Amino acid sequence: MAAPGDVPDEPGQPPGLTALSFAEQSQDKKAKEQIITPFDVSGGVDEQGKAVAIDYNKLIDKFGSQRIDAALLERFEKVTGHRPHRLMRRGFVFSHRDLNIILDKYEKGIPFFLYTGRGPSSDSMHVGHSIPFEFTKFLQDAFNVPLIIMLTDDEKFFHSQKLTLKECKQFALQNALDIIAIGFDVKKTFIFADTDFIYGGDGRAFSEVIMEMGKKTTNNQIKGTFGFNDSNNILEFAFPAIQSATSFAKSFPFIFGKDAKKVAKIPCLIPCAIDQDPYFRQCRDYAPRLGLVKPAIIHTVFLPSLRGAESKMSASDPDSTILLSDTDKQIQKKIGKAFSGGQDTQELHRQLGGRTAVDIPFQYLSFFLEDDARLEEIKNAYEKGEMQSGEMKMTATKELQAYVAAFRERRKTTTPEVRDEFMRPRQLTFTGMPSEKDQ
Ligand code: TYM
Ligand code: TRP
Repeated sequence: MAAPGDVPDEPGQPPGLTALSFAEQSQDKKAKEQIITPFDVSGGVDEQGKAVAIDYNKLIDKFGSQRIDAALLERFEKVTGHRPHRLMRRGFVFSHRDLNIILDKYEKGIPFFLYTGRGPSSDSMHVGHSIPFEFTKFLQDAFNVPLIIMLTDDEKFFHSQKLTLKECKQFALQNALDIIAIGFDVKKTFIFADTDFIYGGDGRAFSEVIMEMGKKTTNNQIKGTFGFNDSNNILEFAFPAIQSATSFAKSFPFIFGKDAKKVAKIPCLIPCAIDQDPYFRQCRDYAPRLGLVKPAIIHTVFLPSLRGAESKMSASDPDSTILLSDTDKQIQKKIGKAFSGGQDTQELHRQLGGRTAVDIPFQYLSFFLEDDARLEEIKNAYEKGEMQSGEMKMTATKELQAYVAAFRERRKTTTPEVRDEFMRPRQLTFTGMPSEKDQ
């Protein structure tokens, strides 16, 4: 990953500095603001030149989204009858745009659809990717609504210096198997790869939305939102219209029907990690100009890198990453080397206690361990110095091994035939179109 503030001018390499303004990067200070965009995620650097953890609160203010608070979680539980997912209970699902409107409409019986996606840049996904997907599955079950999953193999081809189109297409098909193994319901889920769907056969309505969206999008706007410069290629400039087009039911007449007036009003909720927000922030600006409903968004934090909380787990940095295809042994080895918040000696650790806020094995437990009471116990024992970092690492190793093993089992039954069905354009289970009186 480029250092924050680096502005590479190689074609195809989006600069590190994007959604934040260049003026914010003080020339005479060592300190650098955090950078969160679809292409670059880093917590920034303090006055001493030390990397710092991502500040999600600051991000909410900067991006202008809404905090998810206890009252909203309570409302979610009341409306869906589901206890909030552990990622919600622990503040990892932390920000949103218009989730309250989705809940208002849902309460009145107005259905919506879920949309999420993956940019297939490697053949195996990592446990960080499973976060928004696992959360999306939870939402699909809680609301009982259709879900569309976009595989942006075109995006990865446009942005990459080295991947061929053929490789990106293969990764998309490979990743689809991993995504299905998260546990989605085939009757309610449509998965598509851009290269096949849009540039291939069934995406005519979709392409029309891209055209409408693209016609409204200026280069200036793209430069401002994504930090592109004149060295980025023309298709990188065009791609945001493509990622946006999935936010509208009108792109999928085989799912939502062809009654233009009704379809234009079906709302969409997009779960994603916050790096994807620039796409949808911009999409929301354009939606009303196209006579369409703004998509609602629900943001998750990043699963941190094995190296520490200053950066996210990223497929392009193998030392940062636990893959969903890793063996038990590999997981053990990787967590053994993860950044620890323990003290230098066992003696000191007993005296001072461990620092859970920066301890990566503890952080992973807080993402993956379901049992709230057990997590609290572990936290207390570590902070009091009763639990040493070796034991923390072992506990996290076991939990991650169990998580990946369960995934591996589901993945065994995910065959190309199963995938064909998920990727076949067809009607999904979707009852109760929005009625005129409710609009
Ligand atoms: P991609 O493949 O980079 O990431 C897929 C999803 O995983 C999230 N993510 C993470 N979440 C937690 N911890 C991490 N360390 C981590 N790294 C990545 C991403 O935010 C994303 O939610 N352009 C998109 C594909 C896409 C999409 C969408 C995603 C198209 N439409 C709509 C979400 C919603 C991409 O390349 O994602
Ligand atoms: N642009 C995302 C990436 O590069 C992939 C993506 C497409 C996505 N649509 C999405 C991610 C919707 C989250 C939600 O990672």
